[in-house]
Amino acid sequence: MTGHVFVTRQIPAAGLDRVRDYCTKAGIPIQIWEERLPPPYTALTMLSAGAVGILTTLNDRIDAAFMDAAGGDLRVISQIAVGVDNIDVAAATARGIAVGHTPGVLTEATADLAFALLLAIARRLYEGTRYIEDGEWVTWEPTALLGADLSGATLGIIGFGRIGEAMAKRASGFDMHVIAQSRSLDANTAKKAGVEVVSLEQLLAESDFVSLHCPLTPETRHLINADTLAKMKPTARLINTTRGGTVDMNALYDALMNGTIAGAALDVTEPEPLPANHPILKLPNCIVVPHIGSATIRTRDRMATIAANNLIAALSGKPLLHQVNKI
Ligand code: NAP
Ligand code: GLV
Repeated sequence: MTGHVFVTRQIPAAGLDRVRDYCTKAGIPIQIWEERLPPPYTALTMLSAGAVGILTTLNDRIDAAFMDAAGGDLRVISQIAVGVDNIDVAAATARGIAVGHTPGVLTEATADLAFALLLAIARRLYEGTRYIEDGEWVTWEPTALLGADLSGATLGIIGFGRIGEAMAKRASGFDMHVIAQSRSLDANTAKKAGVEVVSLEQLLAESDFVSLHCPLTPETRHLINADTLAKMKPTARLINTTRGGTVDMNALYDALMNGTIAGAALDVTEPEPLPANHPILKLPNCIVVPHIGSATIRTRDRMATIAANNLIAALSGKPLLHQVNKI
């Protein structure tokens, strides 16, 4: 197949039907990968050869070799996610390929999940469930399963963008003190958002909860490592809803084992999926959920709609609603 559109997964009908309708009307062949698991790299590359547009997920490795194999007709890579760390955006730009993504519509859902993880690790919810399952709940105990208070505690946000700000809003409703580390946030904007801008060092030293909201880039890869974990309070808890690669999982495992920090709650891991026998899953002070930050019905419908609209816009010679690169 050539001159076609390749959709690399089954996405919600809100988006898929739009792409199908457009392709039918425009006479563009469409190929959809219908399996539960994402296409392996070789299949992804093969099925994209000669494509004019590709709708991708964060599972797809979209590198320069992929783009070369896809060929010179490829006009758009439309990702159903806000994060595009799986895409070599510079390589796409160099080849004149537009890269689209779906920011904004998943901000609230992802911040909700981040805050749910914060509450769950603070109040030891997963440990509580296991405690009952293990037959440990024999009475009300004055000193059992004691967690951390939120009111008056300090939340440190690393990466104060859309989701970081939405997280700060939730924290202020719980009377938390919010500090943030950002490369561009100015003191005035921060003040309006009720947030104090601090250095990374200060954030790590002062936070009771550290929540990651920066994208995964070469600069943020393993931002949380043995050194940065050692700078956190032994009572601190880490929340990660951004990308697994921002945290060195081995260092985190050691820190949770030896009490360098008190706990962690992760929506994202390295690798993904995390093997079911990974040792971190056995730790009582760690909660892991399977990358469900944006997983609500409404949010995924909206993401699918934007991803479809971005793809269609590019193929119709119109500007994308949300384009990552300038071409
Ligand atoms: P955004 O609005 O672009 O915010 C990202 C923020 O990170 C920006 O304010 C950016 O500001 C900051 N940043 C970038 N590099 C940084 C660094 N080295 N140190 C500190 N801050 C840095 O993006 P968003 O919509 O909030 O999404 C953020 C990330 O969340 C996405 O990239 C994605 O990986 C992740 N995400 C995950 C889920 C999930 O399902 N778990 C869902 C949605 C998003 P400056 O450049 O000014 O520093
Ligand atoms: C999800 O992880 C996203 O980046 O949208």
